[in-house]
Amino acid sequence: MKRIRISEILAGHEALLGQEITVKGWVRAFRSNRFVQLNDGSCMANLQAVIDFEQWDEVLLKRITTAAALSLRGKLVASQGAGQVVELQVTGIEILGDAHPDDVQKTVMQPKRHSLEFLREQAHLRFRTNTFGAVFRIRHAVAFAIHQFFNERGFYYLHTPIITGSDAEGAGEMFRVTTLDAKNPPLNDEGKVDFKDDFFGKAVNLTVSGQLEAELAATALGQVYTFGPTFRAENSNTSRHLAEFWMIEPEVAFNDLQDNMDLTEAFLKYICAYVLEHCGADIQFLQDRDAQEQAQKPANERHEMGLIDRLKFVIENPFKRLTYTEAIEILLNSNHYKKKKFKYPVEWGIDLQSEHERYLVEKEFNCPVILTDYPAKIKAFYMRLNEDGKTVAAMDVLFPGIGEIVGGSQREERYEILVQKCEEFGIPAEELWWYFDTRKFGTVPHAGFGLGFERMVMFVTGMSNIRDVIPFPRTPLNAEF
Ligand code: 4AD
Ligand code: MG
Repeated sequence: MKRIRISEILAGHEALLGQEITVKGWVRAFRSNRFVQLNDGSCMANLQAVIDFEQWDEVLLKRITTAAALSLRGKLVASQGAGQVVELQVTGIEILGDAHPDDVQKTVMQPKRHSLEFLREQAHLRFRTNTFGAVFRIRHAVAFAIHQFFNERGFYYLHTPIITGSDAEGAGEMFRVTTLDAKNPPLNDEGKVDFKDDFFGKAVNLTVSGQLEAELAATALGQVYTFGPTFRAENSNTSRHLAEFWMIEPEVAFNDLQDNMDLTEAFLKYICAYVLEHCGADIQFLQDRDAQEQAQKPANERHEMGLIDRLKFVIENPFKRLTYTEAIEILLNSNHYKKKKFKYPVEWGIDLQSEHERYLVEKEFNCPVILTDYPAKIKAFYMRLNEDGKTVAAMDVLFPGIGEIVGGSQREERYEILVQKCEEFGIPAEELWWYFDTRKFGTVPHAGFGLGFERMVMFVTGMSNIRDVIPFPRTPLNAEF
């Protein structure tokens, strides 16, 4: 008999009542030798299966342990007990895979609350917990919403390379990719490693961003987006940084900074709305989890709103838009500054630290903020120089509890200014000939941005460590599985 997934059973139980069905899944709990809680990953809820233990062999019943995999046949009936609408009256039991109780003892499958740190070490079994089941179902929904958003608006999904020879973006430290013998690499006259003999005949790295490649396609196809893994080798061991993370980078010909901000805002709102609409039970579970976690924090670090209200707030309220220069004014005039509560200095020209960003988002405005027009010196070479000659058409989106979630800009489309910028930044323009072509054959204003996928998933799930929203986190000294 074909199995039915538990999510389908619970969604359409009226039609199935009284029918004989088969379900397959893993045991979450087995009480009184009678009630099996079966979960198959299709949703948060378990299906209760009722076993008449007098009918079954004791040896078989002993194998129904937490974590074991079962195939159960039976009649779906309205439940007698509280806590579930329907239950399965079992007529057939097949043990698909045993789970040894001694092994289970050492794992997350014991019925108690585990720390997220402990769960991170359980590569396989953390997927079986309610929290991570919810997080990874939502992670899928966010990815799907992103593709749907762009598809509805006529964008093309562009696959940009993971191995790249361009290191000009300046977004961060890179991981080298090589097939040279690490112990005995070929050396050039200067005694340095000679990458001419390497696989690609030159030094290459894992990409930090697909933007430069996306610009080539956008100035032909009109509007494209990338959605792929990106790599940064900074040694940042924070709750918001991964060495391997996923980024979404739309790039749009003919868009200016205003259009870019409008697109970002519509995009982030769309994702929040999609998740609220499609992930009800998982979000509700995480809201309760988040509420418990918030209660443990000192009062001044707590979110004032619950998870669902935070998502609704983003959907319903316009993001606050202001320039970097205005933000610096606000910081300098704040009591926080006057009382010397910022650790890092504040003055025009500094790169904002996360304490400054958090002050603006969480204390001053209490809503998502888009900061624009940063000093040219602290932003990438490709950002468009403003009339004032000292700021660029950059934008960063800052979210409560997360900090920077999006970074983007209008691009410098004027060839001469771009070349001059490269010189100032010490970027070897000859290596970027393929990029400069976009400024030679019908150059147009264009703009784009990058959304950190995991930071978005953190926001919609309320998880406070980025390691807990990616299945296999890569961070310094951590790549065991
Ligand atoms: O601000 P970033 O470095 O921007 C770029 O790479 C541009 N090329 C984007 C563009 O204009 N097309 O990175 C974009 C976003 C950040 O705002 C942040 O959300 C995320 O990527 N991000 C990280 N997420 C996790 N771990 C890290 N180490 C991250 N570094 C950046
Ligand atoms: Mg940035």
